[in-house]
Amino acid sequence: MIDEKASRHAVVVVGGSRGIGKAIAKVAASEGRPVVLVARSLEHLAEAASEIRIEGGEAFILDLDLCLAGAPAHLEEFLTEKGLLCDVLVNSAGYGLRGAASVLPIDKQIGIIDVNIRALSELTLHFLPGMLRRRQGGVINLASVASFLPGPNMAMYYASKNFVRSFSEALNAELRFTGVTVTCAAPGPVATEFLDHSGAGKVSLFKILPRYPAPYVAEHVWHGFKSGRRLVIPGFSAKIAATTARMLPTGFLLFVVGRLQRRSSDLCPCGSGLRYKACCRATHKANGRKSRT
Ligand SMILES: NC(=O)c1ccc[n+]([C@@H]2O[C@H](COP(=O)([O-])OP(=O)(O)OC[C@H]3O[C@@H](n4cnc5c(N)ncnc54)[C@H](OP(=O)(O)O)[C@@H]3O)[C@@H](O)[C@H]2O)c1
Repeated sequence: MIDEKASRHAVVVVGGSRGIGKAIAKVAASEGRPVVLVARSLEHLAEAASEIRIEGGEAFILDLDLCLAGAPAHLEEFLTEKGLLCDVLVNSAGYGLRGAASVLPIDKQIGIIDVNIRALSELTLHFLPGMLRRRQGGVINLASVASFLPGPNMAMYYASKNFVRSFSEALNAELRFTGVTVTCAAPGPVATEFLDHSGAGKVSLFKILPRYPAPYVAEHVWHGFKSGRRLVIPGFSAKIAATTARMLPTGFLLFVVGRLQRRSSDLCPCGSGLRYKACCRATHKANGRKSRT
């Protein structure tokens, strides 16, 4: 049983070993708050923690795969051992995959649901009751500008971020006047490893849109959270992208985003093993036209 009065209030950053999570942890630590970094790679966690300590902050690390059963309970145990409690939870762990859903490996796509949706929801629901009991703290959930539209050639990722924004904004409304805030962060492209790992960095859409530095995004998200904001969209171009996505017809968005997220070397989604241009675009399009006439 946790002795809440004796425990110190920590900022727990899930996905805190790299990118946006690490940058948010640094901002929180610079305010004198103990931070707990959670991710799978012990090496990256140790590097991030030492960067925080060099800057005068206090950091704890836990290597944990969020896809394992009982991950929230394991994290809770770790916090109790260290005499900490989760005052602020930052859900920054996540990944995406670019390509047609029918071609990408199924297990990796379902993994997006496991990390971006299931783990984020489980952690949020696990730590919220304690925050509500104490009437303070809150949750920052990383969605994306992708949460405002469907994203052909990155379908599972966009859908997962749609869930994150919907879930977080609804929780924010449910928790009004409780002293606890849930903030949804919806950045546009950010200069982190995410873009290379997902394959998104190579397509036109992510080349057109400017990439914001992670520390810039982290400052905006953290200050937005502290002001009790429901939604934070850091950066002018991201705000324009989100507003445009909400105004334009879905059919038009599907066409434009699908085109800008496809590469000429992509395999055709029909499973022929041929390139899209040589297969569907040439043959099937012609057949489709014929069958419609
Ligand atoms: N970068 C962008 O352009 C961008 C834009 C909008 C929104 N976002 C969202 O912002 C969040 C952070 O993105 P980022 O750019 O900082 O990504 P990143 O640099 O790839 O970092 C992802 C973090 O999540 C951790 N992680 C991934 N899978 C995990 C698992 N199964 N268990 C535990 N930890 C796991 C990673 O550490 P390990 O691999 O060591 O586990 C790492 O710390 C993501 O949700 C992303 O979708 C990113």
